[in-house]
Amino acid sequence: MYKNIKFEIREHIGYITINRPEAMNALNMDVLKELKHVLKKISDDSEIRAVIVTGEGRAFVAGADIKQMKRYNPVRGRQMMTLGHEVMDTIDEMPIPFIAAVNGYALGGGCELAMACDIRIASSKAKFGQPEVGLGIIPGFGGTQRLSRLVGKGWAKYLIYTADVVKADKAEAIGLVQAVVEPDQLMAEAERVAGMIASKAPIAVAAAKTTINDGYDADIRTGGRLEIEAETSCFGTRDKGEGMAAFLQKRQPNWENK
Ligand code: HXC
Repeated sequence: MYKNIKFEIREHIGYITINRPEAMNALNMDVLKELKHVLKKISDDSEIRAVIVTGEGRAFVAGADIKQMKRYNPVRGRQMMTLGHEVMDTIDEMPIPFIAAVNGYALGGGCELAMACDIRIASSKAKFGQPEVGLGIIPGFGGTQRLSRLVGKGWAKYLIYTADVVKADKAEAIGLVQAVVEPDQLMAEAERVAGMIASKAPIAVAAAKTTINDGYDADIRTGGRLEIEAETSCFGTRDKGEGMAAFLQKRQPNWENK
């Protein structure tokens, strides 16, 4: 049903693969529309507990589609950015954790897609950067905001002003990715992390994601209050009784489905 992405679900894990390898998986309007569609499908599916996003071929995503953007005036550019932001924000706001399995180039909109995900695992062949100023534009799918929140203002400014492209080990050193593995281990590692998440209480994981995200953009007292409210809700769940009983009875918990 999709032309530019692949989507499948296996054992509570959703897999989105950006599938335009001939264009380094560049995000054009059609890819963004398909991503928006698949995200709605994921949010309607109560079985999915984590999502892995990756790219087909040599790139994760080499950015927004330059051939398309070249033709765009400010009005069309704004439409593209609005859709791009909608996709990235949906990933950010969805209660299910997203893991970017970065197999190759994550440039521009590709780095922004990876940053919208909760966790980034990189192949040792992956490369990261925000090369937009070399094209006469700036990051437009959230990069000016998410990069500084992830790696601090200094590294964000360095990467965005210089358009430098950094290797996976550098990305790990500045906190842009959580782990770097050999290319043939990438999906196994992403699946291991997704599996760990999927084995935990789904309502608690969702509460953790929402509380971390909402609290990060608020002051610490407001964040603390959000935590108290979310934790109070967790105390009212069947999973809280089950998780604690399972610990005390030395057995695996049997979570309520979402
Ligand atoms: C459109 C792209 C593309 C892109 C690669 N291609 N990136 N097409 N948009 N972002 C196409 C190339 O034109 C080429 O098509 C084919 O993919 C293979 O790419 P090559 O350049 O031949 O491969 P290689 O020499 O290995 O270099 C790979 C690369 C390079 C380093 C990833 O392609 C590159 O620098 N790409 C652009 C990266 C970039 O600037 N990204 C930021 C975009 S701006 P043909 O037809 O020649 O075979 C952005 C802004 C987001 O993302 C917000 C905007 C609103």
